[in-house]
Amino acid sequence: MTTIVETPFTKLAPESRSSGIAPHGGRLVSRLVTGAEAADVLTRAAKLPAIALDARTAADADLIATGALSPLEGFVTEKDYFSIVENKRLANGILFPIPITLTVPASRESEIRGRRELALLDEGGQIVGIIEVESTFSPDRLLEAKEVYRTTEDAHPGVAQIRKGLKDGPELAIGGRITLARRATTSRFPAHHRDPADLRALIASRGWRRTVAFQTRNPIHRAHEYLLRTALEIVDGLVIHPLVGETKGDDVPAAVRVRCYETLLGKYFPKDRVVLSTFPFAMRYAGPREALLHAIARQNYGFSHFIVGRDHAGVGKYYGTYDAQRAFDELSPDDLRITILSFEHSFFCRACGAVASIKTCPHDDSTRLALSGTAVREALARGENLPEEFTRPEVAEILRDAYKQAS
Ligand code: ADX
Repeated sequence: MTTIVETPFTKLAPESRSSGIAPHGGRLVSRLVTGAEAADVLTRAAKLPAIALDARTAADADLIATGALSPLEGFVTEKDYFSIVENKRLANGILFPIPITLTVPASRESEIRGRRELALLDEGGQIVGIIEVESTFSPDRLLEAKEVYRTTEDAHPGVAQIRKGLKDGPELAIGGRITLARRATTSRFPAHHRDPADLRALIASRGWRRTVAFQTRNPIHRAHEYLLRTALEIVDGLVIHPLVGETKGDDVPAAVRVRCYETLLGKYFPKDRVVLSTFPFAMRYAGPREALLHAIARQNYGFSHFIVGRDHAGVGKYYGTYDAQRAFDELSPDDLRITILSFEHSFFCRACGAVASIKTCPHDDSTRLALSGTAVREALARGENLPEEFTRPEVAEILRDAYKQAS
């Protein structure tokens, strides 16, 4: 007969359970209003010049308003923009590695000049809230590309994205606190959507003292799974926290990935210790800088640990394999509360008959099969079957069907 051993946290009394970890900057920002306050904001906004949010800025606004990007209370001001770009910090010294900007064509300057507030519209043109205009400025996108992305090449999807903002001529950035009276975007995956406060409550209710978050923008392959299982051995709970905001065109669409995650978790992971919850942020592909931001956001969601593996948030050959991990080594102890779990590049080794890394495998390259999201996508595009060493058959099947339908 098998005996189920209770782990220490399941024995904790509910009152002693807590998600514990402080939000970045000390306080979970909340810029969502309801009831009479929301009605007042919407009435005021109806009389103001309006800024239309796109998918990316709507996602940013929503994440700011729910505290996922704490301590940001709005889109960055000029002081913070240049401080972030040059020093990875807000002007007050708090770590913040990527500027979250809102821009309009500079031709709108005269309409906006002197206004204390502007209305924010969602993609459908509906008023969702207001921004208090604290600062208007010209962002230096070239400097931003060099410092944040470490390249000015348009082939880099993050650089291409910030350059897209220049297609209508020079930009005017508007910085200031936002207030949302309606959510700026509707959740694409309502069953898996949780705001930071919801995840904090879930972690507390489960009594998890150590909860690890896993960022991914790919279907989970065997190397990912190796990281997840290894991490699960040393923490109480795991939250698969896939990024489901905008990604580059050749990444596997979020809807397909979510089906893969549901299937994998349903079949191979313990329900009481593993949760799927989406992260609706747009991918920047900024490698080390984005790894820092991913960790900050995950601290705000209440996680105590965060996985950073090989070339986290990287693209092409722009960043070194372990640059993202090194970015954390350069911080001072007070910069972040969340603890990073760093992992070596993992691969399938035929001689070991298992996924391994150079820390655990004594064999040479000839027996090793490199596992990556890029390799998965390339094999699918060639119409090949994904071998079992690469990905679970149930996941491979979902991917194969999705690629067949798309081609
Ligand atoms: S990312 O853009 O979200 O970082 P991806 O979904 O591929 O891309 O990676 C999710 C996480 O798994 C990241 O922390 C990444 O570093 C890690 N990772 C991906 N593949 C490997 C691998 N073969 N070995 C070790 N870590 C990996």
